[in-house]
Amino acid sequence: MLTSKIMAHRGLSSLAPENSLSALKKAAEEGCQWVEIDAVACGDGTIVMWHDNSVDRCSDGTGLLSDHNATSITALDCGAWFSDLFQGEKMATIEEAIVLIQSLGLGLNLEFKLYENSPEKVVAPVLALLQKHWEDLDKLIISSFDQAALEYCHNHQPELQLGKLYDEIPENWFAQMQSINAVSCHCNYKLLQKVQVEAIKAAGYEVYCYTPNDPELVKAHWGWGVDAIITDYPQRYNHV
Ligand code: G3P
Ligand code: MG
Repeated sequence: MLTSKIMAHRGLSSLAPENSLSALKKAAEEGCQWVEIDAVACGDGTIVMWHDNSVDRCSDGTGLLSDHNATSITALDCGAWFSDLFQGEKMATIEEAIVLIQSLGLGLNLEFKLYENSPEKVVAPVLALLQKHWEDLDKLIISSFDQAALEYCHNHQPELQLGKLYDEIPENWFAQMQSINAVSCHCNYKLLQKVQVEAIKAAGYEVYCYTPNDPELVKAHWGWGVDAIITDYPQRYNHV
């Protein structure tokens, strides 16, 4: 399934603004094969490639994303905060992102963040877009911390490969993953223990680690059986 052990986190987010079209192009230019991006909903239901529930950190605007819509986001500069080189970068819709990733031939790990929204609002429109644009389901993983988002995917498109995200891995991880027929468990490398990786692998799931930015930090993890990492610095992992 995976063609690479390295995924570029939020696009190649150490070399371009996170979750921007430039970050996706940069990932392809640097030879990455997979990208991870986040999907969240604006107030009007427009789904954008974005991480936070506000626009404050990664744009020149302020306020909640739920107070924005398809028109108002076009007024935001989402690149200057990162560097002058990216001044004028626009917030991308998830459709723009999907179309670009498909055209670049990259694998996609698409992470849903519901925040206060329902799966019907955030997930349903994206599944429709994927059906319209995405060609190879082997090169697509849908991931989320939100079990409800993954349940929605499993119930509506059981053929999708699903990844369950955890910070602290809970006791009921197996029941949660089994109930959505997940393929992978995406874990915080800082909290992850060898015994957990062994148990998850023994249950038949892949294990991915987010977001180690220094190869030294996950040196042992590869030996534990970790399948892939999701990093802001894929360029530091050329040896893998
Ligand atoms: O999908 C892995 C990672 O992106 C999860 O954390 O907060 O960076 O979306 P976050
Ligand atoms: Mg993410």
